Amino acid sequence: MSAALPEVDPAILATLHSPSLLVFADRVRINIDRMIATAGSVQRLRPHCKTHKMAEVVRLLLEKGILKHKAATIAEVEMLADVGVLDVVLAYNPVGPNIGRVVALVQKFPTLRLAVTTDHAVPLRQLSEACASAGVKVGVMLDLDVGQHRTGVDPASELAVGIYQLIHELPGIFPAGFHVYDGHQHQESLAERTSAVMEVWPFVLQLKRAVEAKGMQVPELLCGGSPTFPIYAAIDEASIALSPGTSVFHDSGYGDHFPDLDFVPAAVVVTRVVSRPTPNRVTLDLGNKSVAADPPKGQRVFFPALPDAVQVIHNEEHLVLETPDADRFAPGDVLLGIPTHICPTSALHHEVAVIADDKLVAPWQVTARNRRLTI
Ligand SMILES: Cc1ncc(COP(=O)(O)O)c(C=O)c1O
Repeated sequence: MSAALPEVDPAILATLHSPSLLVFADRVRINIDRMIATAGSVQRLRPHCKTHKMAEVVRLLLEKGILKHKAATIAEVEMLADVGVLDVVLAYNPVGPNIGRVVALVQKFPTLRLAVTTDHAVPLRQLSEACASAGVKVGVMLDLDVGQHRTGVDPASELAVGIYQLIHELPGIFPAGFHVYDGHQHQESLAERTSAVMEVWPFVLQLKRAVEAKGMQVPELLCGGSPTFPIYAAIDEASIALSPGTSVFHDSGYGDHFPDLDFVPAAVVVTRVVSRPTPNRVTLDLGNKSVAADPPKGQRVFFPALPDAVQVIHNEEHLVLETPDADRFAPGDVLLGIPTHICPTSALHHEVAVIADDKLVAPWQVTARNRRLTI
């Protein structure tokens, strides 16, 4: 990844704890502006807060006029509602005690328009019963499996029509549209990614037409993540909403893999050299408890100042690099790294340091890294 990082005042760097996460607020604003430009309007965006889980980032999005938001956990919905968001899709199928927690959410935030996703009649009926007996209404989106095979129903199946019909018929819930997430579309070439999306898209539209022909409403088609939302943005269909998550911070995984994405890294890990165990090794305090370990070992962070370093050991609190440039480093030296996968990385930190207009400002809390806030 070639993206250069902003110069950070050495006096600021000297005060930052390590390991920690540092956010460049000006860059977050740049990324939000680029998301809006790509989407074509703020109304078309429903960004996913799982990437940052921070109320302060939600405030920046609200300041830009982005009023619709997406979440993956009940804690994320609560964080969004606490900040004043009134329209949230919890893109997760509630089951078990989470059904009661969904009801508790709308009871705690009566002005919140909340929708959840579903792909199965059993938890859908349970949700309907719980909402109806509590006297509340929750929107439900039909979760479509457009190829990832993680959740959802085949848009070409009779089951899809059947479950959407059930959403219309059952009490306590109302139809909120289709959820069209496609995290498997990872083609590096934009042209290939676009054709892959366009191969499945007609099935989504046919389903929409089929249920509309039966008199049902499909108010929203909630589509894509960072790699595909520019593709859906180009489709002329009024009900499309776009749900990029990573774009707000960007990371080196997406930067390397999707050269067409026009975002800048806005969150970096701060780490220090703690040891120089051999002539060619530099050991950092950046273990897998500070930077996400879901990318393969050796590829979990990129250091612009040491682009060719090989990551040879990654333990809970240590990252060992091998580099012919090791001589340049001594214990105490600071390095900034761009995480390969920012979303689980931010969830490893309870607060982040923030630089705005070249100054260190108050830290932001990663509120929704907790699984439960109050509900
Ligand atoms: C359901 C859903 N929507 C949207 C997103 C955002 O995708 P991205 O992080 O690629 O922007 C994700 C990411 O995991 C997701 O799972």
